[in-house]
Amino acid sequence: MRTLITGGAGFIGSNLVRALQRDQPNAPLLVIDDFRSGSFANLSTEARSHTPGFTYRGDVIAGALHSLDLPAVLERFNPDVVYHLASITDTTVTDQTVMLRDNVDPFRQLLAWATAPSASPTPRRLVWASSAATYGTTANGATAAQRPFALDDAGAPANVYGFSKWVMENLHRDALAACPQAHLVGLRYFNVFGPGEQHKGKMASMIHQLAQAMLRGQAPRLFTPGTQARDHIHVDDVVACTRAAAQPSATPGVYNVGTGRTTTFNQIIDALRRAIDCAHDTQYIPNPHAFYQDYTCADLSQTTAALGWTPQHPTADTIATYAAQMRQQNAQVK
Ligand SMILES: NC(=O)c1ccc[n+]([C@@H]2O[C@H](COP(=O)([O-])OP(=O)(O)OC[C@H]3O[C@@H](n4cnc5c(N)ncnc54)[C@H](O)[C@@H]3O)[C@@H](O)[C@H]2O)c1
Repeated sequence: MRTLITGGAGFIGSNLVRALQRDQPNAPLLVIDDFRSGSFANLSTEARSHTPGFTYRGDVIAGALHSLDLPAVLERFNPDVVYHLASITDTTVTDQTVMLRDNVDPFRQLLAWATAPSASPTPRRLVWASSAATYGTTANGATAAQRPFALDDAGAPANVYGFSKWVMENLHRDALAACPQAHLVGLRYFNVFGPGEQHKGKMASMIHQLAQAMLRGQAPRLFTPGTQARDHIHVDDVVACTRAAAQPSATPGVYNVGTGRTTTFNQIIDALRRAIDCAHDTQYIPNPHAFYQDYTCADLSQTTAALGWTPQHPTADTIATYAAQMRQQNAQVK
């Protein structure tokens, strides 16, 4: 199995690389990454304390996808599976041309590769990261009703990041209509947290940011009233679902990847306090953002039916375990 992972030096990509290499130590891996938000450290030994001794054995091409000769790279490496996770992930980027060029243009080339005739008896497989940002802040009424987001609720992205993912979904839909036998699976990740996200800075999960503040001895700060509820999912579950999407048995399409449950920000702090001694009460501040997802929750019915996957990690317990890992890692660095 020859596997190309775009964005493999990033948070989710590097967790995927580790899982693939663990299970198929001799299978060729190629990472393409321009390191704008990823780091080589994610592919080296020290990045994650719970996988000591990891040594990446694959190749890396450093470069932005839109400026590489991607068709030539695909022809040379000849992957069986492409996991496409590279993306601008800074949702505060407002340059619309850059967001759409960098996120959407390379995807056209990957779709062309995945739908081209090939001599192989199994279709080329393309699994790629969409986002819950495609639901925006209203999600076709699901937000107001506080019900899980069904796939058809998407299409009202509130920022250009979500819009770029939505355009990719449109291209995916058209490619699949033209080539129904193609193995194309898009995954709308909800709020992902876990080891390997520290390099994301202000784009790391709220769980990471709140834990780090508490570990620095600061009070955790939330937007009033802290009851905003989102679907937070551990990266190990996301990796398992992403791999399930590449199995020949997976049904092509676009699916939600969350836990199907919500955790409020107040509950996150309760879980973090189980692992981190913090003398400070939570501070509440007004939310300055006009467009903010106060509620997200994935409807997983189609995900489970199409990919045979269900989440395995209960959120509150996993948050507490992750907080303990961060506490230990910070202590080692000091
Ligand atoms: N983390 C989440 O909660 C979340 C939620 C929804 C969707 N996603 C999607 O999952 C994917 C992975 O996200 P992540 O959280 O690991 O973020 P990340 O920023 O850690 O990873 C993205 C990686 O892609 C690389 N990259 C960005 N643009 C590139 C380009 N044009 N060419 C080559 N490399 C490029 C970055 O350097 C980085 O290593 C992204 O597509 C993201 O949109 C993530």
